Amino acid sequence: MSSAFDDFELKGHKLENRFVVAPMTRTSADKKGKPTELMGEYYERFAKGGWSMIISEGVYTDRQASQGYENQPGITDAPQTDAWKEIVERVHKHDCKFIMQLMHAGAQFQHNEYTDTPIAPSEVKPKGEPLDLYGKTDGWPEVKAMDETDFDAVMNGFVGAVNRAKEAGFDGVELHAANGYLLNEFLSDYFNQRPDQWGGDMAKRMHFLELVVKAAKSAAGDDFIVGVRLSQITVTDSDYQWPEGEDAMIKVVKAMEKAGVDYIHTTDTDVMRKPFKGGSNKSLGDIVQEFSDIPLIVNGGISEKNYEHVAGHYPNALLAMAKTSLANPDFPIRIKSSEPIRQLDFAMLQPTATLENEWKWRDENDAHIELD
Ligand SMILES: Cc1cc2nc3c(=O)[nH]c(=O)nc-3n(C[C@H](O)[C@H](O)[C@H](O)COP(=O)(O)O)c2cc1C
Repeated sequence: MSSAFDDFELKGHKLENRFVVAPMTRTSADKKGKPTELMGEYYERFAKGGWSMIISEGVYTDRQASQGYENQPGITDAPQTDAWKEIVERVHKHDCKFIMQLMHAGAQFQHNEYTDTPIAPSEVKPKGEPLDLYGKTDGWPEVKAMDETDFDAVMNGFVGAVNRAKEAGFDGVELHAANGYLLNEFLSDYFNQRPDQWGGDMAKRMHFLELVVKAAKSAAGDDFIVGVRLSQITVTDSDYQWPEGEDAMIKVVKAMEKAGVDYIHTTDTDVMRKPFKGGSNKSLGDIVQEFSDIPLIVNGGISEKNYEHVAGHYPNALLAMAKTSLANPDFPIRIKSSEPIRQLDFAMLQPTATLENEWKWRDENDAHIELD
C-alpha cells in the first residue's frame, strides 16, 4: 500500500514525501511586482512545516498583458528575480523543493501595471464577476483577440520567465494552463472561438500550449522541471466541460507527454470527480495515469479525511493542497504527530487574500504558527 509519506522522485529530484503546497495567489508583492520579506516568511513556514514541495502563486511573465492582479508578483526583471532568489534560499534551507507557477492572465484580468487591455484567444470575457478576493474591480474589461505580435510577446514572456526562474534558483516551473487563465483559455471552446490555426477542434486549440511547453523545455535544459497545470473548470465557471469529453483530456495528455513535460498537475473541484461530458467514469488524474507515464500531481478537496485514500487511488501521484495548507502550514508534521488539524476560516482571507490580512487574522485569533 503506497503511503503519502513515501518519498517520491521527480525528474531526479528526491522529495521526502508526497505532500505539496498548491499554488495560491496572495497579491502581496509591491506595486512593481517585487516579492516582499513577508512572502519569504510565508513560503518558509510551509517548508519548515514538512511539505516536500511548494508551488508558488501564479507569477506574471511579461510586461505586456500577463499580469492579472494588483500586487501580483512578477518574474520579468532583475529586481523581481533577485527578491525571489532570497525566498528560494529560505525554502531550500529546509530541504523543500520550490516550483514557480508561471501565469498569463489572459481575459481574467483585474489589474495590470503596463496596459488596460487584456489579450486572449478571442474577444470573449469570462463568465461571472471578477474576484473580490484579489482586489475589487467593476466587471471585466473588453478583450483584444491576440494577433501574431501578441503570440510572439506571450511566447517570449514565458521563455524569459523560465530563464529568470532558473536564475533565481527554483527547481522548476509550472505552466498555468488551468482555471481560465490564458493557456487554459486556448483549450476552451468558450474562450477560444478563433477561425484560424489556433482554434477549432482540440488538436488546434491545444497547439499553442504545445509550443509554449516545447519552448519552455528547451530553455529549461536538463535538470530544471517543467510541469503543466490542467483543468476543465475555471475560477468563475465550475461547470465548464470540453465538448469532446474525455477524448479532449486524452489528446492533451498525450501531446504533453510528446512535448516532454515533467509532470501534469490536475485540478478540479474534487480530486475524484468524473468531470467529462458524455458520462465517462474517469477523473482528470485517472486519464493521466491511464494514458501516460508522466508523473502526476492531483488537487481538489484533499484533507486529513481523505489523503490516505487519494494516495492509494493515485499511487504515483503527489498530493497538492491549497485550503488545507493555508489552515495548517505544518500539515505533514501535524499528521505525523497526530496533532489536531484546523479547518480554514475564510475570514483569514478577507477582505482580500493578502498576507497582511492573514497575519492580522492570526493576531486576532491567537493563531500564529511557531515552527522553530
Ligand atoms: C487563496 C487562493 C488562491 C489561489 N491561487 C491560485 C493560483 O495562483 N494558481 C492556481 O493554479 N490556483 C490557485 N488557487 C486554486 C488552488 O491551487 C486549488 O486548486 C483549489 O483551492 C482547490 O484545492 P483545495 O481543495 O486543496 O483548496 C487558489 C486557491 C486559493 C484558496
